[in-house]
Amino acid sequence: MLRVEGLQKGFTGTRAVADLNLEIADGEFFTLLGPSGCGKTTTLRCIGGLEKPDGGSIFLGDRCLVSVAAGTYVPPERREMGMVFQSYALWPHMTVAENVAYPLKLRRVPRSEIGKKVRDALQLVGLDGYQDRQAPHLSGGQQQRVALARALVFSPQVLLLDEPLSNLDALLREEMRRELKELQSRIDVTMIYVTHDQAEALSLSDRIAIMNHGLLQQVGTPQEVYERPATPFAQSFLGRTVSLAGTLSGLQNGHAEVRVDGAESHLLCLPNTPEHLPVDGPVAPGSKVTVVIRPERLKAWPDVPSAANVIPSMVRKAIFMGDHYECTVQVGSVERVVPFPPGECYSAGQTIYLEFPESSLTAWLN
Ligand SMILES: Nc1ncnc2c1ncn2[C@@H]1O[C@H](COP(=O)(O)OP(=O)(O)O)[C@@H](O)[C@H]1O
Ligand SMILES: [Mg+2]
Repeated sequence: MLRVEGLQKGFTGTRAVADLNLEIADGEFFTLLGPSGCGKTTTLRCIGGLEKPDGGSIFLGDRCLVSVAAGTYVPPERREMGMVFQSYALWPHMTVAENVAYPLKLRRVPRSEIGKKVRDALQLVGLDGYQDRQAPHLSGGQQQRVALARALVFSPQVLLLDEPLSNLDALLREEMRRELKELQSRIDVTMIYVTHDQAEALSLSDRIAIMNHGLLQQVGTPQEVYERPATPFAQSFLGRTVSLAGTLSGLQNGHAEVRVDGAESHLLCLPNTPEHLPVDGPVAPGSKVTVVIRPERLKAWPDVPSAANVIPSMVRKAIFMGDHYECTVQVGSVERVVPFPPGECYSAGQTIYLEFPESSLTAWLN
């Protein structure tokens, strides 16, 4: 329902958005996730009309909001999109009600309707009764609720949220995260959410688009992008990984064998399928690869297990973190930090046997 085609936007010396294509469904909670500077905000501002792209087009349903080729540009207040920013951006000299009413006045909504719409919007965010407060006298969380009410007050089709929870402390952030999700289930609005926080992206989104350097790396459900990352960047950015360098030593019977640097006598075997060994074109024994696994898929044994894909490893350090231990483990020639559940307590100097279940392994060509 919202379609972005070939979006490009540069600033002097920077290509903020390279060539972006997105299709976002009606009512979807869609998240742009990526590191700082990857072009999330610029993309969102192009969708909202605060930024004019250098190339490409954006459609909401059949309606063209911007097309560089056709010379179309619909201004922000005529796009039916609410916006919420990290900085709240409330007007300090106005009351809560005046702040929330502002978009209605901009749209020339009759005065007689404004009071009820403002009350409804404030009720939606749990701030009914705060109408006459001055915005600066509210807590950060309350200010962000006011910003949310202001974005929702004219019943937009699309809500654009740019890191709206980043300025809140951890506890409040989690609470607001739950409320946002709950809010979306109550009102019929498409949400496009920008964050660099993976926990937020995973817990809130119907789908996530991972961005890097102004380009899309992968689009999928939280489960898809976590379990089957499409690029090394997607894998390293979302969730923790344990990676080991090695050499491809054999390719037979639908399997690929890898000798890990420094532990060459122990083979790691993985399925030779595009899912586990994503390569373009032929791959030959002798190729340098990086084997990657999510740490929670690793199994650790105190004694030699009767399993395949096991590498004996030395625990160098174990740090208690409350809900888990962070163990520094020497695997082959490198040290890797692996979180272990509190029940599995290993101590420095101990040899453990790390099992790398083959269905959980991915190998990238270096
Ligand atoms: N108004 C601007 N003027 C110059 N450069 C900008 C401007 N806005 C963004 N950029 C640059 O564009 C790139 C993408 O920025 P941005 O979209 O804000 O990324 P993100 O929101 O992912 O952190 C960055 O390199 C940033 O410095
Ligand atoms: Mg940003």
